[in-house]
Amino acid sequence: MSQLFRRKSMNLMISQSQNKTLERTMGVWDLIFLGVGCVIGTGIFVVTGVVAAESAGPGIMLSFVLAGIACALAAFCYAEFSSAVPLSGSVYTYTYATLGELFAFLIGWDLMLEYVLAVAAVATGWSAYFQSLIAGFNIHLPAVISSAPGVGKGGMIDLPAILIIMCITALVSKGIKESIKFNNIMVFVKLGVILLFIIVGVFYVKPENWTPFLPFGFSGVITGAATVFFAYIGFDVIATASEEVKNPGKTMPIGIIGSLAICTTLYIAVSAVLTGMIPFTELNVGAPVALALESVGHNSIAGIISIGAVMGITTVILALIYAQVRLSFAMSRDGLLPKIMSSVNKKTKTPFKNTWLTGSIAACIAGFVDLTTLAHLVNMGTLAAFTLISIAIIVLRKKFPDLKGSFRVPFVPVLPIISALLCLGLAISLPGITWISFVIWLVIGTIIYFLYSKKHSNLNK
Ligand code: ALA
Repeated sequence: MSQLFRRKSMNLMISQSQNKTLERTMGVWDLIFLGVGCVIGTGIFVVTGVVAAESAGPGIMLSFVLAGIACALAAFCYAEFSSAVPLSGSVYTYTYATLGELFAFLIGWDLMLEYVLAVAAVATGWSAYFQSLIAGFNIHLPAVISSAPGVGKGGMIDLPAILIIMCITALVSKGIKESIKFNNIMVFVKLGVILLFIIVGVFYVKPENWTPFLPFGFSGVITGAATVFFAYIGFDVIATASEEVKNPGKTMPIGIIGSLAICTTLYIAVSAVLTGMIPFTELNVGAPVALALESVGHNSIAGIISIGAVMGITTVILALIYAQVRLSFAMSRDGLLPKIMSSVNKKTKTPFKNTWLTGSIAACIAGFVDLTTLAHLVNMGTLAAFTLISIAIIVLRKKFPDLKGSFRVPFVPVLPIISALLCLGLAISLPGITWISFVIWLVIGTIIYFLYSKKHSNLNK
């Protein structure tokens, strides 16, 4: 029994982090760009329209605020942990040091589900945007290779989704310096098109489109928040990069909170302009941002926005693959997953094999599985992680009062408790089927833990 709750010692973790297996090359702006690169994507470009039309109406602005508050509270906890324990693996690693091995394994297992499914889901969104873009040049893919089976489009395989994941995998496996450079350029383009939309669109806002403001009542705002939560997923990815960051104690908190602040501001602005430009009932389409501009006659700007969206969504795939690889790297290094996942290639200095394994699994899922409803499962996994990290901060303060990072969460334990309750509240608004699937995934994880990980854990030595 005591084995299940054995903890990895803080000293061991800190000495591991000083053991330079991965290169420390990233600064604050690289980190903020990695965050924004991972956060802004399918959520704002696709999900916003659906949520406005079906759940929240113009009140989607409040949904973004609510989801943003939940993320900000969790971000504080992430920031304290990652400045105190600058190690790869993020919330998994922090849980290992505070709540013990079984919880750590399960949360790592939960995050693996979240990241792999998110890569697949986002790539499917990329494929749809890409196809609508080339349709503008009258190029149409045969239906059989254009979508996963079972979505009523006659598809057997979503080939563009598979190909984009494989391309990004090749890039990430080459090395983080190359990936960061590519990421930074793409993020500039993405921010540019979002600002372009806000600046052009604001002149077409008709305030009467904002009434009624809450057509589905406040409960619609909460349901909306649980869904648009997807748009925020990714800022936690920054925490997985702390082993490759220069001066992590300062850089991590600024990176995490900075990127979250930028994204929240942009989301509220985009949803305000979008619901102000056209009635919310018309927003239930694949490319709502482009639709709004087309409806006021700006077809060429709509085209530019679509190109930016395709690029923007690409960086989300990059950051999520990166996060998944770093997480399983950390779990494998601790012996909880097979060693092959933490072997670092001498030439590229990256976990080469792990990267390709991750990319291939995500590509298979993206190619053959329709993931629209599974976006909810991704949210579920994230909310579970946020709840656990909030609890873990309270444990950290109690058990390790001397371990002080350069960032401290204010008002402990009140703030982490509010954070955990808020995340639980949002999780409860998710559909029942999501809960059932999530529990099944955790049961599989528990079996693997008892059959493999417990025996192979480094803590046995
Ligand atoms: N936050 C990411 C997106 O919106 C997952 O695509």
